[in-house]
Amino acid sequence: MKLLTRRKALALCLSGAGATSLPLGGCDAKPLRDVFDAVLEQEAPLCQRAARKGVLYGAAALSQHLSQSRAYSTVFARECGVLVSQNELKWRALRPSRETYRFAGADRLLSFAQAHRLAFRGHCLVWHIDNPVWLPEALKSENPVKLFESHIWNVVSRYRGRMHSWDVVNEAIRVRDGRDDGLRETIWLASLGPSYIERAFHIAAEADPSAILVYNDFDIEFADRTATRKRHALQRLLERLKGKDVPIHALGIQAHLEPSYPFDSAILTQTLDWAAGLGLRVFITELDVDDHRLPRNIKQRDKAVADIYRTYLDAALAHPAVALVATWGLSDKYSWLNDPYFRRAAWTARPLPLDAYLHRKPAWQAMAQAFDRAPQRAPMPDRKGTLAPALGAAQFASGNT
Ligand code: XIL
Repeated sequence: MKLLTRRKALALCLSGAGATSLPLGGCDAKPLRDVFDAVLEQEAPLCQRAARKGVLYGAAALSQHLSQSRAYSTVFARECGVLVSQNELKWRALRPSRETYRFAGADRLLSFAQAHRLAFRGHCLVWHIDNPVWLPEALKSENPVKLFESHIWNVVSRYRGRMHSWDVVNEAIRVRDGRDDGLRETIWLASLGPSYIERAFHIAAEADPSAILVYNDFDIEFADRTATRKRHALQRLLERLKGKDVPIHALGIQAHLEPSYPFDSAILTQTLDWAAGLGLRVFITELDVDDHRLPRNIKQRDKAVADIYRTYLDAALAHPAVALVATWGLSDKYSWLNDPYFRRAAWTARPLPLDAYLHRKPAWQAMAQAFDRAPQRAPMPDRKGTLAPALGAAQFASGNT
């Protein structure tokens, strides 16, 4: 009701009718227009604020949540310029059996993205978690290279030309596993050897010549010993792969943040400098703030969460290499931190920009301000040099960008 009235009034005001035929209390159209512009500016969605700076903003989602709730899908399409597949492109979801592929969920996400002119981001082709139960046996009994490569080829080529970017390899480093190269001990490493990483990127690049290919990992922007060793292993890995012309185009930094484990902004900046020096863009891929150690009081919790969003994004967005920010969900209602399996507090977690009722929280305000403050950068073209509409240019071509 409130919105409709404002829109109507705005339209009349802009058409010039307000000054003559509307009972507008004697004020002329110009200051009214300024008021409405200010209101519209305050309400501008996150993707629009990000797009003005050449940054793509969006969130991860499940197709069932977008189709269950009209309110959610409407707000999602308004706030986001990119939709990230949260689970439906993982092996477990895609491969009910060795012989079959189940693309229905991911296809629904793609249709949603296309219908709303959002970019679509694939997560993830190679991970040590969320794999089907039949996989370990199959990797032992068959040609593992063939199984691995055919999966990547089939999945990536199905979405060829329609995928903004792919997280090709996810979380491949774990220094605690004790290897000199820092690689995590996974079924992929065990059955294919360390070359599985470059294989995955080569096949993905062949299967889709336009998608941006990403190596994605977590805990690399912290100062403690484990994170430092992990960062060094990551740097060695990516330098080695880039040195061999492996087609890696961006580093994904997950950014699952926690107040009790503060990130180090100087280290984040150094890592961004290093990535840019290697010719990589940086995507902040899974941003959220775990609030389970914060006070129960919602006001205090929301403020602490928002402060972390603000300091993190101020540091990240100051760097021109950062081209995309995605939160791991948009509304607290659907956050993975509220899954019974991951939930760590007695209360409902509030890690995301919108609350469970889709209201904007202090975290949303903090993100909006960080995008508004961020320096401008050139939007990232895809590998063919095309500026996808989803990068914000077309979506807001007629808006007040
Ligand atoms: C999580 C999903 O959000 C959950 O729904 C699922 O049960 C497990 O995976 N890092 C990642 C994501 O790269 O894929 C994870 O997503 C969260 C941590």
